[in-house]
Amino acid sequence: MLSLLLTAMLAVQALAVMEVQVPEQPMVALHGRDAILNCSFSHASSFNLSDLSVFWQLTDTKRSVHGYSEGHDQLTDQAESFANRTSLFPAQLGLGNASLLLRRVGVADEGSYTCFVRVQDYGSAALMLQVAAPYSKPVVTLEPESNLRPGDEVALTCLAYGGFPEAIVIWQDGGGRNLTDNITMSLVANEEGLFTMTSMLRVVLEPNSTYSCRLINQLLGEEGYASVTITGQNIAFPPVALWVTIGLAVCLLVLLIALAAVCRRKIKESCEEARREAEEAKELEEDESKTAMTPLKS
Ligand SMILES: *[C@@H]1O[C@H](CO)[C@@H](O)[C@H](O)[C@H]1NC(C)=O
Ligand SMILES: *[C@@H]1O[C@H](CO)[C@@H](O)[C@H](O)[C@H]1NC(C)=O
Ligand SMILES: *[C@@H]1O[C@H](CO)[C@@H](O)[C@H](O)[C@H]1NC(C)=O
Ligand SMILES: *[C@@H]1O[C@H](CO)[C@@H](O)[C@H](O)[C@H]1NC(C)=O
Ligand SMILES: *[C@@H]1O[C@H](CO)[C@@H](O)[C@H](O)[C@H]1NC(C)=O
Ligand SMILES: *[C@@H]1O[C@H](CO)[C@@H](O)[C@H](O)[C@H]1NC(C)=O
Ligand SMILES: *[C@@H]1O[C@H](CO)[C@@H](O)[C@H](O)[C@H]1NC(C)=O
Repeated sequence: MLSLLLTAMLAVQALAVMEVQVPEQPMVALHGRDAILNCSFSHASSFNLSDLSVFWQLTDTKRSVHGYSEGHDQLTDQAESFANRTSLFPAQLGLGNASLLLRRVGVADEGSYTCFVRVQDYGSAALMLQVAAPYSKPVVTLEPESNLRPGDEVALTCLAYGGFPEAIVIWQDGGGRNLTDNITMSLVANEEGLFTMTSMLRVVLEPNSTYSCRLINQLLGEEGYASVTITGQNIAFPPVALWVTIGLAVCLLVLLIALAAVCRRKIKESCEEARREAEEAKELEEDESKTAMTPLKS
């Protein structure tokens, strides 16, 4: 029994003497950028490249990501989603570097990748690839927006888009206390798999309150912040607005009076003109009649 176990262990060791190393921690790649999936192997002596085989595959589905053997890339069975996006570093292969360059990383590339290497011996190791994208700066909006009064229930919405993975959203009041009640979250992915995050907070308005939204992308250690302050001005009819309104009204009144005066003058002028014209016409008529009468006189 013990000898059987020993033989099995020796067999396993004989098969996997080559040490293949990949990062132990999940590696984070930025969406849309290129990433290098590190894989290095130990080799006792220099070897002929035509004796080297490197094979990258998806650990879970066993689909082929990139193959290399007999001194060439072998891509006939490569999964379509990796077409034209992968390459090894040929100059580095002889130095024990079987790292994979993956171009234009997308959300769908997330997962575990296994690096197989064989020269005479054989070894493999798997690494975890995580994809991250920074969110846009969050924006807080208020619904309804106007005619707010203390005691009204309003919905505050915090929105950020284009990020990955799901972020943590924390609502806080002006005193930095976490608001945890009545929050609704929604997460919508676009065709690239990037998220638009919406968090809605329902609150009953108090005068002079600040509501802030903190959005944290933990994978990137990035944080976005936005806040809205509802002062008395939004709630009651603000004194400043009142004076502005009165001022505007007075201006309008003055303008109207001036306009009326101008109109009156214009009307008077045109009336006088009409009268003058009429008088002139009458004088002309009288002249004509005089002229017409002249021959009778003479
Ligand atoms: C890949 O390997 C290089 C060289 O050893 C190192 O500088 C780099 O940090 C590694 N990258 C990752 C993601 O582990
Ligand atoms: C492998 O080579 C590439 C290209 O020179 C380099 O960027 C990468 O860090 C190397 N990886 C290791 C593990 O040495
Ligand atoms: C590498 O292997 C190929 C094919 O087996 C052989 O033709 C070539 O001479 C070898 N090169 C070296 C440097 O050993
Ligand atoms: C890869 O590149 C080749 C040649 O440029 C092109 O014909 C092919 O359509 C590309 N495949 C993908 C999936 O982009
Ligand atoms: C609010 O919640 C965050 C995350 O859960 C936590 O880090 C922070 O300490 C909390 N702040 C308060 C005042 O409870
Ligand atoms: C949550 O919403 C309900 C109904 O909209 C309301 O009655 C309740 O007071 C709210 N809770 C808090 C803590 O605002
Ligand atoms: C609102 O805040 C302003 C300035 O911070 C203060 O003068 C005012 O008294 C506050 N009003 C209420 C109702 O708390």
